[in-house]
Amino acid sequence: MSLQEILNHRRAVRHFDSVKPIDETTVKKCIELASLAPTSSNLQLWEAYHVTDKQVLEQLVPACLDQKTARSAQQIVVFVTRQDRYKQHAKAVLAFEEGNVRRNSPAERQDKRIKDKAMYYGKLIPFTYSRCLGLWGLVRKGLAQCIGLFRPMTRQMSEGDVRVSVHKSCALVAQTFMLAMSEAGYDTCPLEGFDSWRVKKALKLPYNTEINMVITCGIRVPSGVWGERFRLPFEETYHKV
Ligand SMILES: Cc1cc2nc3c(=O)[nH]c(=O)nc-3n(C[C@H](O)[C@H](O)[C@H](O)COP(=O)(O)O)c2cc1C
Repeated sequence: MSLQEILNHRRAVRHFDSVKPIDETTVKKCIELASLAPTSSNLQLWEAYHVTDKQVLEQLVPACLDQKTARSAQQIVVFVTRQDRYKQHAKAVLAFEEGNVRRNSPAERQDKRIKDKAMYYGKLIPFTYSRCLGLWGLVRKGLAQCIGLFRPMTRQMSEGDVRVSVHKSCALVAQTFMLAMSEAGYDTCPLEGFDSWRVKKALKLPYNTEINMVITCGIRVPSGVWGERFRLPFEETYHKV
């Protein structure tokens, strides 16, 4: 399928076929492809929980408010944010980038580039992603507003802003997963209608993780797609500047 065909084929599917199985390895491969999605500062503060176990799937049904798409799902993938892992991931990106610069940058620029990356991942990222009951974010935001008086400056620096940023990146991963599933001939439905506490309990997730999206998976039955697709007139959303 071309990208256009994939985009047209992907629909939110509310009822999956109960007999047609989907292949676990193919779903896993789609999650792997989803990891190619871009993330802010390449920090990859997300994880995917691929649920195939019958008992856990059953626990997820009430946690997803008993929606039919969850009841009929063959497998479920839960995308989770891991803002708490920013230090480890920044360290991993920096270690990779040092080698990347050595392998690919002109010799005379290497030291400066490595120094800049060490500053970014060693100092700026920990400064931006750390949390302390919202207070640390207020300090950052205040600082950003002051600097912003004199030069362009990223102003989304509160703890809430950074949390949104982490979820934004994770949602790109989730969307990439759904498109990969479409290409594989499988269907999905992204869910926001869930009880996050119960989903976390079913998956035994640590306290500081957040559920970004629950994605039900299977193969559609014809009635699984609720009729025609509605989109606002394109002119209402498109603005040429
Ligand atoms: C973040 C998000 C949360 C959603 N939550 C639900 C949900 O809880 N239950 C549901 O049936 N559909 C849910 N949907 C599916 C949307 O209703 C659906 O994508 C939209 O109506 C457009 O239909 P289409 O995906 O077939 O184009 C969600 C979609 C997104 C992106």
